[in-house]
Amino acid sequence: MNIIHPKSWHIPEREVTPEAIFMNRRALVKSMGFLGLGAVAAGALPRSVLAQEADPTANLYPAQRDDRFTVSRALTPEKDASTYNNFYEFGSHKRISDAAQALKIRPWSITIDGEVDNPQVIEFDDLVRKMQLEERVYRHRCVEAWAMTVPWTGFALSDLVKMAGPKAGAKFIRFETFEDPDVASGQRQFWYPWPYTEGLTIDEATNELAFMVTGIYGKPLPKQFGAPLRLAVPWKYGFKSIKSIVKISFVSEQPKTFWQTIAPSEYGFWANVNPNVPHPRWSQETEQLLGTNERVPTRLFNGYEEQVAGLYPDLKEKSLYL
Ligand code: MTE
Repeated sequence: MNIIHPKSWHIPEREVTPEAIFMNRRALVKSMGFLGLGAVAAGALPRSVLAQEADPTANLYPAQRDDRFTVSRALTPEKDASTYNNFYEFGSHKRISDAAQALKIRPWSITIDGEVDNPQVIEFDDLVRKMQLEERVYRHRCVEAWAMTVPWTGFALSDLVKMAGPKAGAKFIRFETFEDPDVASGQRQFWYPWPYTEGLTIDEATNELAFMVTGIYGKPLPKQFGAPLRLAVPWKYGFKSIKSIVKISFVSEQPKTFWQTIAPSEYGFWANVNPNVPHPRWSQETEQLLGTNERVPTRLFNGYEEQVAGLYPDLKEKSLYL
């Protein structure tokens, strides 16, 4: 007899549903193939979807879903997740999806440097073909208290760490976003410390949940989500999940991050989700789901405590959550 031990991130059946709708969509997208998208009436698709047509990696999607990372709560409808984004490079509001289409994502090279045996500059298209792609359904919890549940496609960050070959001195990884104020109007706002940067410890980066994202909803990543390559660290507030990465540096010191530089007392390096540690200006006890606007309780480490609590010996330390 099979006894099912639900994982800590599972939540009750009553919150599950649109999966069937999503799966039908996946089957449809797959059967249409790459060129098939063009057969659909252009007026029926948002601009951001049309922008996918020329993606040279479209045939890699949808990837096989890894059922170890399935969340039993409704997926956020694609339309809602695709039109409510944080990407300050294109504006400090949520409706940046059209503006983000100006980002040129080919060619796109990623520099891997610092304390590694194999420093390199690799084209995104080569990297994505080198890695084992899979789909994972993750929760995403913004520090602003909105949340979504989305099927990311990508590869384990630990595989990239392995490829880089960290030396003993590599204790942290620093990630950096592109910088091009000509296309990203937000980067003309000189008071922000561009380019956007983020960081993880090596132990966090090699945790099984740390994921390099190249796609979503069974397709290459639309630009507003941080194409062509972003991070997803679902136990941390969303600002840690840096978009449109061009540089990955292995360093010995804790890197300074974008939000930490702007407001260190509000956005720290660790930023682990905790309902009991309020943001200095609002409560973190609940979160609002994109799509339904339902308010649900926030969960410690965003529901991933089982996987990540071991990374933090002193769970009581407040700074872990700011
Ligand atoms: N990465 C870059 N480069 N610029 C940003 O403004 N915003 C962050 C994060 N990564 C951001 C970024 C924040 S605050 C959140 S909540 C998520 O991206 C939002 O991801 P989404 O738009 O895909 O939902």
